[in-house]
Amino acid sequence: MSTVIYLNGEYLPLEKATVSVEERGFLFADGIYEVLRLYRGHPFQLEAHLQRLRRSAQGARLPLPQAVPDLPAIIERLAAENDLHDTSIYIECTRGAAHPRTHAFPAEPHPTLLVMPQSIYTLPADAFTRGVSTVTVPDLRWRRCDIKSIMLLPNILAKQQAREQGAFEAIFVRDGVVTEGSSMNTFAVIDGTLATHPADQGILAGITRQVVLALAAELGIAIGEQTFTLEQMYNAQEAFLTSTSAEVLPITQIDGRPIGNGRPGPVTMRLVEAFRQKTGGWR
Ligand code: PDD
Repeated sequence: MSTVIYLNGEYLPLEKATVSVEERGFLFADGIYEVLRLYRGHPFQLEAHLQRLRRSAQGARLPLPQAVPDLPAIIERLAAENDLHDTSIYIECTRGAAHPRTHAFPAEPHPTLLVMPQSIYTLPADAFTRGVSTVTVPDLRWRRCDIKSIMLLPNILAKQQAREQGAFEAIFVRDGVVTEGSSMNTFAVIDGTLATHPADQGILAGITRQVVLALAAELGIAIGEQTFTLEQMYNAQEAFLTSTSAEVLPITQIDGRPIGNGRPGPVTMRLVEAFRQKTGGWR
């Protein structure tokens, strides 16, 4: 059975859903997106994702389609029609098709709204017990990484470089400071404090990041939403990544060096467990 998706007011089989070649998302990457997760059929942190979608739209000066308030109902219908339980949902909103191709906004934009289920990518079987390895790459992105833009070439190149170097994730470094991963936020335990880059324009304010910070506070873990350098990360006691797809994922290697004793640390594992309890788990 083919997957049913939502495109501009219609529910269609995936193969039947098409957009114009003049779509500005295609020509300019003129759009924003969200990825959220269903656990046993229920969206996790839906309101936070929708809020971030609205913030991204504001940052991109993108008129949101009228159907945006219906997103909870659209997601519910897609979950029912596709019999979805544990999956992710991809939402994309662009400035739509316009003629001729000019950089400035079209006088009458017809924004596109796409909502489609995506299977959760599979992590290496031992990822949570052995951790993953990472490599660092220069953060060459623009200075509005808080906008969840579909313009992801630097992230794609970074992730591919990581894969070609046998690593799971690429970690961006700007002016010696660790910002975030190519598709995940980065945390490190430094001198007993859990550090992560502040949610400013230098990173995407991850929803998982926010949940993890709240869980850490509940667990009495010392938190510092402050930047740390690559040198500090090399010498960190522990480190981990967070994202909607990867949840809380221990990092045990960076640039070929072990983090701490080269095994997932105790603070990380408490948060892996606390996060799993919060979502109700899926495995
Ligand atoms: N990635 N940083 C970047 C650059 C990201 O692209 C993402 C999410 C995150 C983590 O955000 P969250 O916890 O809200 O998923 C951080 C999504 C999942 C993606 O691109 O598929």
